[in-house]
Amino acid sequence: MTESSLAVLILAAGKGTRMVSDRPKVMHEIAHRSLLHHVLEAAKALQPERVIVVVGPGMQDVADEALPAETVVQAHQRGTGDAVNAARDALGSFDGDVLVLYGDTPLIASAALRRLLAERRKHNAAVAVVGMRPTDPGVYGRLVLAADGTLEAIVEAADCTEAQRKITLCNSGVMAIDGKRLFELIAAISDGNSKSEYYLTDIVAIARERGLRCATIEAPVEEMMGVNSRAELAHAEAAMQRRLRAKAMAAGVTFTAPETVFLSVDTHIGKDSIVGPFVVFGPEVAVGQGVVIPAFSHITGATIGDHAIVGPFARLRPGAVLADNVHIGNFVEVKNSTLAEGVKANHLAYLGDSSIGERTNVGAGTITCNYDGFAKHRTTIGRDVFIGTNASLVAPVTIGDGAIIGAGSVITADVPADALALGRGRQVVKKARAKTWRAKHASAKAAPKKKKTAKKPAKKIAKPKKRKR
Ligand code: UD1
Ligand code: MG
Repeated sequence: MTESSLAVLILAAGKGTRMVSDRPKVMHEIAHRSLLHHVLEAAKALQPERVIVVVGPGMQDVADEALPAETVVQAHQRGTGDAVNAARDALGSFDGDVLVLYGDTPLIASAALRRLLAERRKHNAAVAVVGMRPTDPGVYGRLVLAADGTLEAIVEAADCTEAQRKITLCNSGVMAIDGKRLFELIAAISDGNSKSEYYLTDIVAIARERGLRCATIEAPVEEMMGVNSRAELAHAEAAMQRRLRAKAMAAGVTFTAPETVFLSVDTHIGKDSIVGPFVVFGPEVAVGQGVVIPAFSHITGATIGDHAIVGPFARLRPGAVLADNVHIGNFVEVKNSTLAEGVKANHLAYLGDSSIGERTNVGAGTITCNYDGFAKHRTTIGRDVFIGTNASLVAPVTIGDGAIIGAGSVITADVPADALALGRGRQVVKKARAKTWRAKHASAKAAPKKKKTAKKPAKKIAKPKKRKR
């Protein structure tokens, strides 16, 4: 094998006790993808020969999430050193670089990983470690450096001396190890520490004892922080959001209040689009160029064409496909529907399981009645249709090109092209009836009201006051 061959080992078998969760820790999400997914993406960017994920027994969901990466099972979760050992058979005679990543560090960027690999090779180090300087080193392992600046040991926080605890350079968990040495170093780890675990971090001191060199690089804590608790999950989410917003803005998107916009890792927004405050993007959203998304819209699984307007207060759900120049306004919900170019639905509508042709205008309050209590049905609306206010379109139903639907109609049968359809009670007008109605009721109410209001309140209020005295 060449000196540049690379295998990535991702440790994901930990119980994640501090998450207090029924789900494995690495399946928790930031920016709508699992922690493990983010780590796998960083690994993939390095084009490694092998990617092996270490999972715990029964963690089928983690193994599925890892695909197409290979997985090996760590039978008993006895520490990070034991987890690496679980991949011994799978790695076989691999003697290139082994990059160890922890499945709970979702913000790692491939640039830092490349720097680490270069550093290890440059010094022919047995182990190279990424260090970071968090404001609160807390429970992170500390990197103990020798006088010459090389790495001497990693000491877990629980096992630190007072002096070691003051060290600000911490172990991010990311390590590059010489594959030729890996398992001889692992074999020498013992569990003689405060947690009785086999710490991977001990291989540094073991390598030094054997006269081997160990190196470190530093990377920003924003890229290296681990997720061990719900609070750290929220920190990681915030850091990821900052990164995603910065990326979108660098690609030409305006955010009026970036800190209030939430993106998914796969959100794509075209240049010259403007996103107002408090807009949330769920997974699988693609937005075209020059789109305006005013405040408080929630968009998931939707495709939006160029120069569309979506919001304020719009809700696009999976399968909403909006062509160019579509306008979706306040309190309009669109699901599993295709809206052709120039369609307008500007107020208070539900468009579900439908297709709507070019330039059709959907009036305020229009509802596609897509569900009959058992199954969903489609509404097909042609082009240049005018749907009057408050129409109910009972699916399955088809409305032809150029038709007009009268306001307030309940449409239960197909409407041919260019027809006018009215499905409501005929209006009745009775001249002067309102006036006579008011006069009749005014005279009937006038007399009895006077008697009742004069007597009853006087008695009720007077009695309790006397009793109290
Ligand atoms: C670890 C490091 C610590 C470092 C920190 C960075 C060790 C001993 N300590 O501590 O120096 O500062 O990460 O975030 O390595 N795992 C397994 N099998 C196990 C135990 C853990 O696969 O038996 C996996 C976990 O799923 C996790 C990763 O290894 O993805 C790290 O384990 P975790 O328990 O989070 O270690 P930390 O206490 O954070
Ligand atoms: Mg951790």
